[in-house]
Amino acid sequence: MAMEIKGSVALVTGGNRGIGEAFVRAFLEAGAAKVYVGTREIANAKHLVDEGQGRAVAVQLDVTNPDHIARAAQQCGDVSIIVNNAGMFLMKRLIGAPDMSAARAEMEANYFAPLAMSRAFAPVLAKHPASAIVNVLSAGAIVAVPGMGGYSPSKFAARAMSTCTRAELAEQKTHVCALIVGSVDTRMASHVEGYKEPPSKIAEAGLSAIKRGIDEVDTDYMAMQVRAMLQLDPKAQERMMTRSLRGERVTTGR
Ligand SMILES: NC(=O)c1ccc[n+]([C@@H]2O[C@H](COP(=O)([O-])OP(=O)(O)OC[C@H]3O[C@@H](n4cnc5c(N)ncnc54)[C@H](OP(=O)(O)O)[C@@H]3O)[C@@H](O)[C@H]2O)c1
Repeated sequence: MAMEIKGSVALVTGGNRGIGEAFVRAFLEAGAAKVYVGTREIANAKHLVDEGQGRAVAVQLDVTNPDHIARAAQQCGDVSIIVNNAGMFLMKRLIGAPDMSAARAEMEANYFAPLAMSRAFAPVLAKHPASAIVNVLSAGAIVAVPGMGGYSPSKFAARAMSTCTRAELAEQKTHVCALIVGSVDTRMASHVEGYKEPPSKIAEAGLSAIKRGIDEVDTDYMAMQVRAMLQLDPKAQERMMTRSLRGERVTTGR
């Protein structure tokens, strides 16, 4: 199920900064007719609305708020591509945290929110002969990363959700693509040492996956490295992260 970006109407959640912002710019550059910039604060998307010169529209969208999602589905009734990019990483341990609030919040933002968006927008996407949902996941969705608390489990859940919704939406020709993202130079990864990709690289991989109708893509060097390591030695990542939990220095290499 390949589709054209030129002339499409995209909505990017968490579109105001980081990888989401790069997606907004990539859609504009590729000739999208309109890009809705999902943002918790409308003012935070002003720079992109200005850059879009009439083609970028800010939409207030906290993806954990069901009222916001319902309103966005009404307001953006012409959308043909959704990018579920908004995400949360709280850097708490699963056992070591004082309670489960962080693990629950990550599950809400990283799993239930993209599912709620997919459900709300499925009838909107169905109006088009071809449409797409892109779920921005993580290498933490293919290999559990000890020390990342609820983040990895939430991205595993979102990856399974991507597979299930892909099957459910195939009949209406909505293609669901899962992006396996490694290490990217954004605020979320400000604590990460070592090589980080520019956000534009992830957006470029995402648009290419939409155009070619690909189910799952490793978007960058680290994602590919994790996938390869998983094949060669499935326990290697776990051993490395266990060392990191003990206080040893572990970096993303290239
Ligand atoms: N950076 C990496 O190395 C990396 C690696 C793998 C996967 N990812 C994934 O890539 C995606 C984007 O992350 P990023 O690196 O660009 O992080 P970022 O720079 O921290 O940006 C996160 C974005 O998500 C938004 N957001 C968070 N919670 C939200 C909510 N409840 N409703 C709406 N928007 C919300 C933020 O909005 P505000 O500006 O309002 O806070 C911001 O726009 C995430 O799904 C993340 O898990 C990132």
